[in-house]
Amino acid sequence: MHWSTRTKLLKSLKIQDFRNPDLRQISESKHKLIHTFGALAELGNEVANKSSFQETIKTSLHLVLGSLGIMRGGVGRYSRFNHEFNMVAIRGLGEDFPLSLSLCYEDERQFLANGLEPMEIEQAKVLPFFQVYDNSFERAKLELMVPLVIRDETVGAVFLGQKATGEPYSSYDREIICAMGRHIGVAVAQRNLLAELERRADENRKLYDEMRTTYADTVKAFAAAIDRKDKYTEGHSVRVGKYCEIIAAELGWNVEEVEGAAVAGYLHDVGKLTVERRIINAPYRINAKESAELNKHPGVGYEILMPIHHPYTDVPLAAKYHHERLDGRGYPDGLYDREIPYIAKVVNLADSFDAMTTDRPYKRRRPAGEVFEDLQRNSGKQFAPEIVSALFRGMLREVSGEVADKKFRRLLGREYMEAENIGPILQSALSGAPTITPINPMSPDN
Ligand SMILES: [Fe+2]
Ligand SMILES: [Fe+2]
Repeated sequence: MHWSTRTKLLKSLKIQDFRNPDLRQISESKHKLIHTFGALAELGNEVANKSSFQETIKTSLHLVLGSLGIMRGGVGRYSRFNHEFNMVAIRGLGEDFPLSLSLCYEDERQFLANGLEPMEIEQAKVLPFFQVYDNSFERAKLELMVPLVIRDETVGAVFLGQKATGEPYSSYDREIICAMGRHIGVAVAQRNLLAELERRADENRKLYDEMRTTYADTVKAFAAAIDRKDKYTEGHSVRVGKYCEIIAAELGWNVEEVEGAAVAGYLHDVGKLTVERRIINAPYRINAKESAELNKHPGVGYEILMPIHHPYTDVPLAAKYHHERLDGRGYPDGLYDREIPYIAKVVNLADSFDAMTTDRPYKRRRPAGEVFEDLQRNSGKQFAPEIVSALFRGMLREVSGEVADKKFRRLLGREYMEAENIGPILQSALSGAPTITPINPMSPDN
């Protein structure tokens, strides 16, 4: 009930008192009723409020005590694991009042059977619970205990001392106590439910993290298996995965998308597992027939990856289209720019960058400056310009010391990184670079 409404009602009752003294008795009980309902409404607000649980229970206890003129009391929350009431709020029970009160099976059974009704402590002494804590309850001058039974479950208990007037509890008081007890009980039950949900969510999160780790480990093991087949390009898939990761992060993708890009890189050449080792390891430029055989690997990779449910970006499509070019001169489908899945464009650059910067049987690795020039020259033809810029930016950040993690140095080797003055070359390449438009790798446009 709203405060002003209550005040108005009280006022109207007082007027009645003056006009007709016979109504005084009725008015007093109405007064009390309205006051109590006000407290109940506040209790409801308190329970619905998102403030801390402890505070809610404390305020609730104070409202119960205040509205009925009770000197002292407490609220305990029931722990079904430890079989005890743990006191959440206490008022005037004394320093030595136990903060945890154990229950035996008989007590639990009786409280549940009693339901949400006040129990006279004096009369309940047949139960072990009241015998064990007899001294504490006497010292605290407790009179009533209300088991908070909500939906056939004991969730706590309210302990109440004597009334300030010294009068016994009326049936009316008991009804009020029950109504307020229900409110407090619901708050405790809600809290228990929330705690249970949080525990389950936590369990799920752990399970999910474990699965994610298992998936990542499996992907890396697979990448290593792919790379073992090709003795000249040892570590190729792993490096492409790492370059994809760097590029995706530079493009501003979120954590999951970056991980997805890495996976796409790790697995892009999985189709090579079915290509003859002789062709893959040919120490010469392969002929047209061998080349046609090798060029099947994107399609085969797609077939292998397709039945697997990948948690990230379109990993199978990245494998299928990682040899496509923006100008439509790639393979297997000769797709043009916007037809190529974005993730495949990222893998394409990472793949080419690794091919240029590692020794091949028929070709030595090329110096960094030359590689950058090549990438720039082919921007807009083979590579998406903003992806090239992302790679350059990632490298420049490392060379300039902006990032401490030396990923490129680990992947390319110190000598390679220091052979040329990479920083200024990258800087000038980037100064003429196009501005980056935000790209969502999951967008159907890409
Ligand atoms: Fe490939
Ligand atoms: Fe590759």
